[in-house]
Amino acid sequence: MDAREMKIKAAAAALAHVEDGMRLGIGTGSTAEEFVRLLAERVAGGLSVIGVPTSERTARLCVELGVPLMSLDELPELDLTIDGADEVDGRLRLIKGGGGALLREKIVAGASSRMIVIADESKVVETLGAFKLPIEVNPFGMVATRIAIERTASRLGLSGAIELRQAGAGHFMTDGGHLILDASFGRIPDAEALATALNAIPGVVEHGLFINMASLAIIAGPAGARTLT
Ligand code: 5RP
Repeated sequence: MDAREMKIKAAAAALAHVEDGMRLGIGTGSTAEEFVRLLAERVAGGLSVIGVPTSERTARLCVELGVPLMSLDELPELDLTIDGADEVDGRLRLIKGGGGALLREKIVAGASSRMIVIADESKVVETLGAFKLPIEVNPFGMVATRIAIERTASRLGLSGAIELRQAGAGHFMTDGGHLILDASFGRIPDAEALATALNAIPGVVEHGLFINMASLAIIAGPAGARTLT
């Protein structure tokens, strides 16, 4: 089974949690896009749901495939969000933001009663941090914000390169007009402490540590899908 087939398997298992009439947060990334494709088939077959997309990219795919959408302001309380992840540990703590949609993903997940993560086995880790931690920052004072992040991380015993994410010839820009700093801290033994410390830095808009947000993870591997709760 190749990587795409595993993503489809996880997405298909998540679809079983979707019920008629649900208000759905719809994630971003290649795994979430497999979910959108399967969801669109069910919508074409008569399933009635309304989606709130977590990125312009996801919104475009939903429109193209006929999944009905509303904005989060029109539909501020959601039943379920289904989204991918870059890393997930055994306590359902996540690193997200590899696709740069972390701010909207966190807002949408926070507005949802439940969040289901869909991923393949390669995303499951003992300890978060092998994947570079995405940190979304305001463009104003980005260098000062980066220095503040370095100092904060250092106080927590963390260090490593913090790189401004690039796209094409320039900087990567999020849907909200912010920049992304990718922090190579390595193993993050206390994700809660780092999340709290990053939240306190002026200029940090959001970070990719999702803690106490996911209620279930569906992990697909060559032998099938399993769940983490
Ligand atoms: C986007 C995300 C994605 O969910 C994450 O990067 C996983 O993507 P993929 O399913 O393509 O591996 O957080 O901001």
